[in-house]
Amino acid sequence: MRIVLVGPPGAGKGTQAAFLAKNLSIPHISTGDLFRANISRQTELGKLAKSYMDAGNLVPDEVTIAMAKDRMEQQDAQGGFLLDGFPRNVSQAEALDDMLEAEGMKLDAVLDLEVPEDEVVKRIAGRRVCRNDSSHVFHVSYKTPKQEGVCDVCGGELYQRDDDSEETVRKRLEVYHTQTEPIIDYYKAQGLVVTISALGKVEEVTGRAMEALQQKV
Ligand code: AP5
Ligand code: ZN
Repeated sequence: MRIVLVGPPGAGKGTQAAFLAKNLSIPHISTGDLFRANISRQTELGKLAKSYMDAGNLVPDEVTIAMAKDRMEQQDAQGGFLLDGFPRNVSQAEALDDMLEAEGMKLDAVLDLEVPEDEVVKRIAGRRVCRNDSSHVFHVSYKTPKQEGVCDVCGGELYQRDDDSEETVRKRLEVYHTQTEPIIDYYKAQGLVVTISALGKVEEVTGRAMEALQQKV
């Protein structure tokens, strides 16, 4: 399956993607995680991305699309993928359509996670991620690590993401409403969107998501 996951910052996209990708045996491709991996390796791409991410803005399309394309072309993504955080505006969605069309492929579903803004703020404020791999995600009250400040998966140090400050989160939400939400209508026109509530326990949301995706295959 080829799936796009959309939802506001802190909706639980990364958390759900980890379970869905495992259940569906497809790779989880997060452009946010790819940028953060570049930042920790101090690559040129990482340096460029960091300045935009810390301000809560989108990284320019040109570099984002090239990075996403490169990842989707890897062997493990040939049979399908779960995209998390890409596309994030209509021009990225058009670029993705062009990329897939050139290969004779298309998307199967766009899963839209709906969460009220006050819940998003709570989820982001308590989020802690692993220094070794930002896809290892915890929460100070909703998903506490066994040992405080230590990643259960790899033993790495947990920290608060630089872009999780209150001011940057406000900016990220504004960018979501103005630039990312329009892709939902773009995909609705293609009949691809399934919307679910992302409230409740993580496993409840996963169950809802799996059910919704089954309607699309
Ligand atoms: P990115 O990393 O994609 O951030 P985001 O979209 O803002 O999403 P988040 O990672 O904040 O949240 P999430 O929905 O994954 O939630 P999570 O599962 O962690 O992007 C960061 C930046 O990179 C962007 O601002 C931009 O600058 C750049 N970028 C990335 N892609 C780009 C693109 N395509 N184009 C241009 N720029 C791009 O969950 C949040 C917390 O809630 C966690 O602590 C978790 O444990 C907890 N939680 C999850 N589910 C539940 C639940 N059901 N109940 C209680 N707690 C829960
Ligand atoms: Zn870890």
